[in-house]
Amino acid sequence: MRIAMIGTGYVGLVTGACFSEFGVDVVCVDKDEEKIRRLKAGEIPIFEPGLDDLVANNVKAGRLSFTTDLAEGMKGCDAVFIAVGTPSRRGDGHADLSYVYAAAAEIADNMDRYTVVVTKSTVPVGTGREVERIIRQRRPDGDFDVCSNPEFLREGAAINDFMRPDRVVIGAGSDRSREVMRQLYRPLFLIETPIVFTELETSEMIKYAANTFLATKITFINEIADLCERVGADVHDVAKGIGLDGRIGRKFLHPGPGYGGSCFPKDTLALVKTAQDYGSPLRIIETVVDVNHRRKRAMAERIVAACGGSVDGKTVALLGLTFKPNTDDMRDSPSLDIVPELIRAGATVRGYDPEGMDEAAKLLPDIKYCQSAYEAMDGADAVAIVTEWNEFRALDINRIKTLLKAPVMIDLRNVYDPQEMRAAGFAYTCIGRGT
Ligand code: UGA
Repeated sequence: MRIAMIGTGYVGLVTGACFSEFGVDVVCVDKDEEKIRRLKAGEIPIFEPGLDDLVANNVKAGRLSFTTDLAEGMKGCDAVFIAVGTPSRRGDGHADLSYVYAAAAEIADNMDRYTVVVTKSTVPVGTGREVERIIRQRRPDGDFDVCSNPEFLREGAAINDFMRPDRVVIGAGSDRSREVMRQLYRPLFLIETPIVFTELETSEMIKYAANTFLATKITFINEIADLCERVGADVHDVAKGIGLDGRIGRKFLHPGPGYGGSCFPKDTLALVKTAQDYGSPLRIIETVVDVNHRRKRAMAERIVAACGGSVDGKTVALLGLTFKPNTDDMRDSPSLDIVPELIRAGATVRGYDPEGMDEAAKLLPDIKYCQSAYEAMDGADAVAIVTEWNEFRALDINRIKTLLKAPVMIDLRNVYDPQEMRAAGFAYTCIGRGT
């Protein structure tokens, strides 16, 4: 089997590398010459655990290559995957599909045999049909089918999510395209991964329904956490107590500063817009979007409150700036709301993140960046944990006490035990575990 992967962003690169690991010949295509030059030189533009080795091994084995030339990439291909960006469109929140449609046109111009055109990017319902129309218009006699094959990869755990998924969803209208997709995913059939075959529209909807459901679950537990604080309950025990019910499930019930990243904020908004356009509003998701947005801003207030009601002239150490651990991705990270609020309130912010500081510096230039968690805390009035990187889970508590002016910790990810921290003399604030 041979495939072309258009787009070497997060999804394209991980998916391409993983398919090559399955034994498929993969050519990754991107217009960005600098990116392709770096990939050819063995440099991986994103931080994702295990990806550098996976890419290097498969390049060495001759199964994975990179090019800027789509015609070259598509030569002899069984399938071509569209994995380009679908950012929120400025102004109206809809997904911007211009890159997807441009890719469709170029595919039409370069097809040289029966080709399955697969949308991997997260695209609103109806996009696959539009891709089909664009290609058909340019190539009335073209021999192709369009499939939808959404990804369910979590940043930081993407390779494992690809290799051992809960399920694979394939929207395919013809037996011929289904067979090609079945061949590509053969190793997963062998480990009995459930494969859900549907029509195009259903597959596209599954992706949005999955992400918005997960965003709703997180938002639900976040609001329950706030109520737990008021009534003196412990949200971790509540999450466990409800999550053990198989109908609810234990995962994605960890409270925090609000969901961020490149997917949930964009996808919740896009589905809300689609639903409004179709006259079938999703009021729950509209509320989730609003609640999550307010939550991120409220986190700065929490820090201010923990600092005695004002941070004017004070220094706050922030540990973790990315939207979650094991990534350098800053997109829609809660830190992007928290930092400007703190600075507006008169604080000096010292920050440290294990992988995200280069990205963070572009978006948050006013932070004083430090080389370690301890350096960030040295002389600060308080420390806030914003992202739960492993290295923040086992900090030397006594050392923190000597570094901070006063032992004030705001733990927005609940990585420490409230009782232990209070017993150690900290003014400790967390989420939903007693104030
Ligand atoms: C998410 C989905 O989990 C993937 O299945 C999906 O493929 C991907 O979006 C996508 O559409 O591309 P990702 O954005 O990488 O993956 O990250 P998650 O691990 O899902 O976390 C998203 C946000 O929710 C983070 O800000 C995280 O801190 C937050 N979160 C997650 C919580 O606050 N609590 C939880 O219990 C879980």
